Amino acid sequence: MLRAVIGVYDSGFGGLTVLRALRARLPDHDFVYLGDSGRAPYGGRDADTILDFSEQCVERLFEEGCALVIVACHTVSCVALRHLQQRYAPSKQSARRILGVTIPAAEEAVGSSAGHIAVLGTARTIASGTFDAEIAKLGPHRVTSRAAPLLAPIVEEGWEDTEIARLAIAKYVEGLEDADTLLLACTHYPLLERTFREVLPSSVRVLDPGPAVARALEKWLARHPGFVTAGSGSIRALCTGEPATFRKHGERMLGAPLSTVQHVALIDGRLAHRDRVEIATGQVVRPSTPPEAPSVAGHARR
Ligand code: DGL
Repeated sequence: MLRAVIGVYDSGFGGLTVLRALRARLPDHDFVYLGDSGRAPYGGRDADTILDFSEQCVERLFEEGCALVIVACHTVSCVALRHLQQRYAPSKQSARRILGVTIPAAEEAVGSSAGHIAVLGTARTIASGTFDAEIAKLGPHRVTSRAAPLLAPIVEEGWEDTEIARLAIAKYVEGLEDADTLLLACTHYPLLERTFREVLPSSVRVLDPGPAVARALEKWLARHPGFVTAGSGSIRALCTGEPATFRKHGERMLGAPLSTVQHVALIDGRLAHRDRVEIATGQVVRPSTPPEAPSVAGHARR
């Protein structure tokens, strides 16, 4: 079935920096953005929780009519993308697809680097080792990965242009001066790009992966003609946190007004489904019949 809407999912409003790049490249497409701001940040959470939250969010975007979902969050892309792609694999009944940001970001970093790539991300992104693995597939680069957990909260406070941001960045990049490329592997960090450039020597190229993700999506759409049709360039935003806060920060990240921000309820810690308000108690049995989940640590996930 042809669908016109592309879903974009992030742990909060940071993924709007990715949507900004997607819109610049694909201005005629319609997007539904889901920010799980009520449960953000994801970066310090355990992998099992991230798998569970990401299933709920991706399912909600499918319910919103998105046949294609872009996981804009680096933490989710690094930890859960393969699981999501297997769990919601395309079938005869459903042509849905899920794409992430890690591979386009790794390719961009390798394309830019003469040998030493630094990667900054959340604690979970760095602990996953996914960037090290993806970059190693592309060439014999030296990779220095470092968690920078204070930076996303600084951006959430709107403190990008403060001394606090400058000091935190200076601390996190200590010893990275001999890298030639710094990959900003977190949706919030592009808002700090200017400060990164001020703090680092000009020999370090600071890389926002958003434009590379947008180019990768454009190529994917060209390889799958008709999978997603162009629309009117609209954006509809959904969030699990407070919509007014989401709009305030989100517009800064998107660089454009957000006319619609709809709240999605969390019921007993799970995302509400679109057409059903039901408070689940005891065992939760989902109404859909997705394919068997792969087992994790020797037991089925549900
Ligand atoms: N969206 C997350 C990422 O790109 C950053 C914020 C968080 O920790 O949730 O990794």
